[in-house]
Amino acid sequence: MKIFIDSARLDEIEQAFGYGIIDGVTTNPSLLKKAVDKLEESGEKITIEEYLKKILKIAKGTPVSLEVTELKQDKMIDQGKKLYKMFNPVANNVNIKIPVNPSFPDEEGRDFEGIQVVKTLSKAGIPVNCTLIFTPEQALLAAKAGAKYVSPFAGRIDDYIRKNNNISFKKTDYYPAEGFEENGKILDDNGIVSGIDLVAQIVDIFHIYNLKAEVIAASIRNSIQARESALAGAHIATLPYGVIMQLLVHYKTKEGMKNFTDDIVPEYEKLTRDK
Ligand code: G3P
Repeated sequence: MKIFIDSARLDEIEQAFGYGIIDGVTTNPSLLKKAVDKLEESGEKITIEEYLKKILKIAKGTPVSLEVTELKQDKMIDQGKKLYKMFNPVANNVNIKIPVNPSFPDEEGRDFEGIQVVKTLSKAGIPVNCTLIFTPEQALLAAKAGAKYVSPFAGRIDDYIRKNNNISFKKTDYYPAEGFEENGKILDDNGIVSGIDLVAQIVDIFHIYNLKAEVIAASIRNSIQARESALAGAHIATLPYGVIMQLLVHYKTKEGMKNFTDDIVPEYEKLTRDK
């Protein structure tokens, strides 16, 4: 499974790429806002254009998702093309993130324009990451429309199931992949029992029909969900910086290192130290 960093913070992206295990970057308007707020706090003066270009250069050789903010079909297409034209030449690694369904109906009540945008941009040779996927059906249609990536939001489905059933939770709390049982019944959202179940069902459908789109498990809040995304066969998991760091941590690793350090034979250490 490839691992993307889900962040627009340059410091986090730089550091994560420094570890040599990151395969791409995903951003969205909320992540960009967080990054800009942080920049403003620090007093650093840089334009958003320059800032994004820096991200693209750090991620050179791996894909970076930049999301549109427009809501109507024509405007989304126009913005997607402009973003691609402006930023792809920097490191040839941009894909455009399009919500599967913007969910703000226009004057004619049309609410399903995202999928047409996916089709138009993909046909024009622009790689698309179709985002805000909450059902396997949405993922299937996005793949049929030509999306290169589809992004099911695992954590947010878990939030939704918990909220609908008055279960209190913290954002990073683990939610069982096999679902949560209450009064002898597994809670679900229209047949989806957890965010990881959503990812797994999409992976299965793509496999059955040999669809080329890659599944990005998104909205992942903890290391167990990252592991379960891998077990579900997600091609990619996009992880916040904190979750990437969690993947490396275990109490016994730390304890083991302490023991090894305490036991070092000075002569053994000296062998290489003086060379
Ligand atoms: O990749 C999607 C992600 O940024 C949303 O995450 O944790 O806000 O649901 P979250």
